[in-house]
Amino acid sequence: MRKIIIAGNWKMNNTISQAQDLMAALIKNGGDMHKVEVIVAPPFTALRSVYDILGQSSVHIAAQNLFWEESGAYTGEVSPMMVKETGCKWVIIGHSERRQLFGETNDTVNKRTTAALRIGLKPIVCIGETLEERDSGQTFEVLNRQLEGGLKDLTGENMAKVSIAYEPVWAIGTGKTATSAQAQEAHEKIRAKLASMFPQGVADKVRILYGGSMKPSNALELLSLPDVDGGLVGGASLNAHDFIEIIKAGIKAEQL
Ligand code: 13P
Repeated sequence: MRKIIIAGNWKMNNTISQAQDLMAALIKNGGDMHKVEVIVAPPFTALRSVYDILGQSSVHIAAQNLFWEESGAYTGEVSPMMVKETGCKWVIIGHSERRQLFGETNDTVNKRTTAALRIGLKPIVCIGETLEERDSGQTFEVLNRQLEGGLKDLTGENMAKVSIAYEPVWAIGTGKTATSAQAQEAHEKIRAKLASMFPQGVADKVRILYGGSMKPSNALELLSLPDVDGGLVGGASLNAHDFIEIIKAGIKAEQL
């Protein structure tokens, strides 16, 4: 009942011409991509050209961030309408790199999420604990705080449009993946927390993606877990072959 999402977060990679090459390879070799929900998140500068090259394909685009104000004196920021105008249907919010490097907090995550929903974009809200937090037994306290703060004051109707990405910080770009048991435990607890904040029917509907060193060799195992409804893929999404293998794993998991 929860269609699998395979989303590629390119981070600060790919110029427009590199993005076009990558998308041409994806369209040519991607196969039955419509059987899952495939999303790519290029940098702002490549959004429109990626949108154009994707044309009628089933692949959608996401922005990696947005600002919450509609317009004004906010040098360097990009408004929700500007993002939407590029053809985006989705937006990634609160990635751990933004939290760690650019001062993102649960409060700003909440402002961005609300602004995205207001304009009709579907947020993928990222949460996750650091290694230090995991080692000191604080994982679920941290995740709960991120959910409470980031999703504050959302209606159930709006929450049904949000997806969550669980990305343990220690697994991002490190080659270290959460074990199946760790991923399932976290996803299950996240869903239970959502059910305490929103109607159960909404919590059952929300897609919870796993992110952190997902690659062709571990994707099927992770995507087959009962509460893992997709992947937010970093490094492996920059390589057409690897990303397509992960999409294929998603299609297989969808049929289980
Ligand atoms: P990697 O897949 O490179 O570990 O990155 C995960 C991530 O941060 C996706 O948003």
